[in-house]
Amino acid sequence: MLNPRFVDRESFVLAGVTSCGQLGEIDYAGVWNKQFMPVASRLHAISSDAGSYGASFGEKGKTVYLAGVAVTGDTELPAGFVKRTLPAAHYAVFDCTLATLNLTGEEVYSQWFTDAGMELDAEAVGFEYYLPYNEVGDMLVQLYIPVKPKQSTSAEKHGGIMSVFDVISERRSIRKYKNDPVPGETLRRILQAGLLAPSGANRQTWKFYVVQGKKRDEMVDVLKKALDNREKEGENVAGARHSFEIMAQAPVNVFVFRPNRKAPWLASTISQNFSDIVDIQSVGAAIENMLLEAHELGIGSLWVCDVFSACNEISAWLGEETELIASVCLGIANEHPAARKRKTLDEAVEWLS
Ligand SMILES: Cc1cc2nc3c(=O)[nH]c(=O)nc-3n(C[C@H](O)[C@H](O)[C@H](O)COP(=O)(O)O)c2cc1C
Repeated sequence: MLNPRFVDRESFVLAGVTSCGQLGEIDYAGVWNKQFMPVASRLHAISSDAGSYGASFGEKGKTVYLAGVAVTGDTELPAGFVKRTLPAAHYAVFDCTLATLNLTGEEVYSQWFTDAGMELDAEAVGFEYYLPYNEVGDMLVQLYIPVKPKQSTSAEKHGGIMSVFDVISERRSIRKYKNDPVPGETLRRILQAGLLAPSGANRQTWKFYVVQGKKRDEMVDVLKKALDNREKEGENVAGARHSFEIMAQAPVNVFVFRPNRKAPWLASTISQNFSDIVDIQSVGAAIENMLLEAHELGIGSLWVCDVFSACNEISAWLGEETELIASVCLGIANEHPAARKRKTLDEAVEWLS
């Protein structure tokens, strides 16, 4: 089996010459021999390391193959050259030679991914790094493949089929998350499951704010400030602090609001009380649907009401004037807790017949 090393690489810029076409149509040897070689010394004069790079970019339904060199982002390019930026990524790096490059690539895709429990990180860009040639033997090449751990859904672990009861009984509150993002499609499906919940008079009294990526840092600052404020007001914030630490670690936080209730926490009339109780149950159903769908898709979750301790600060940050009901952490679980104790049927149910 291939034995790559793993490397994290910051975003960087390539400059060079390109050929564009459908995958399989590009004449790679031609790009290197006819386009790159005649300008190689000009490109190496502006490059930030001694090697050469080849990388394919998907653009407007076509593949653009770039043969070139690494440059610093602010390098002025002579006419005729193009630049492309590769995002930061986690790579598996396979050492090979020019002669074994194609075979190595084939083995990576046909076998290695499966054996290693990895999948291609489709949001990053793979590349070949050609070490400077010293005229001895075959040219050494490093094949950089962007990877992430294969995420198997709970349904896949059950051989593709999972009953609703399986999902309900296997879901756990997750309080430790990996840093991997939740794929956009998975997130949309989880939110869609929330929207499919039943609701009193079908009022669907919910609104979701999904916080992820860089916005998470802002959220963490808001939560910290809120804890300081509550402490100054003399509140015991131990529980909230613990929940906020979990929220800070989760790659996605969904804040759930109840849009038909403007002023949170105010005493109300009996009829307002009645619709409050109905609507809060409805929002609870939407949240539970999301937790269950998340579990089916292999995503861990936590329902957080401690977020009330930051209710005003979070609302002000999001510019939302309605009532915050809860927040939901989502992400790949980094723990596998046992089932928490539940009441038995005898303890919780009175049978009448
Ligand atoms: C309405 C509600 C609010 C919750 N709030 C929090 C919270 O603020 N922090 C936390 O760590 N867990 C919170 N939880 C998770 C519960 O602690 C958890 O569901 C319970 O202990 C049972 O564990 P399980 O979900 O793994 O079965 C909340 C759950 C619900 C339903």
